Amino acid sequence: MGIELIATETERKTIAEQLPLINQIGDGRLRELVIEVWVRLWRESAYRDISKALNYLSEMDGDETLVRHTNAVVKMSVAVAREFQQAYGISLNFDHLLAGALLHDVDKLVLYGRKGSLVQLSELGHKVSHGEYGAKVAKEVGLPQEVVNIIACHSPMQKKIVPATIEAVLVAACDTANFQSYRLMHGKGLWKIP
Ligand SMILES: [Fe+2]
Ligand SMILES: [Fe+2]
Repeated sequence: MGIELIATETERKTIAEQLPLINQIGDGRLRELVIEVWVRLWRESAYRDISKALNYLSEMDGDETLVRHTNAVVKMSVAVAREFQQAYGISLNFDHLLAGALLHDVDKLVLYGRKGSLVQLSELGHKVSHGEYGAKVAKEVGLPQEVVNIIACHSPMQKKIVPATIEAVLVAACDTANFQSYRLMHGKGLWKIP
């Protein structure tokens, strides 16, 4: 049975519209659980319009939205995974890859907040670490450990939790490739781990 899902039809529809690659997840239950995590954190967030959620703290700069960044990282991860699979004749789990990539930054909905024109860590953002909080919610709703690991380990700031699968390595690499390239595209230097 598992946990009771609280997402309403309208909420589910909004999330699937914003993140259309959710529909590429083959396993229906997995798809619903990915939507459920987004809805739970959306409800907990200060955002009414989820498309307005921002992806970077002001010190990182850029006006990238969480939705656009997430969609880009999902597409990059799928493309790289397809090539890797083909190059080595192996079979990767695309449902796990998609679910993990779709959720890798979902906790920014609640860990980052707007203060005037700045995007800063929220009160909660000072207490818990990015990735680990999203992973906790994913685990609570019953997502598989492989997906939880992709979320928990993806950040370059994360030192304790390491990727457990090829899918996790690829999502983390595509996320880093995305945000570093985004910075260069906007004339910023490469971000260095503090
Ligand atoms: Fe992240
Ligand atoms: Fe990211």
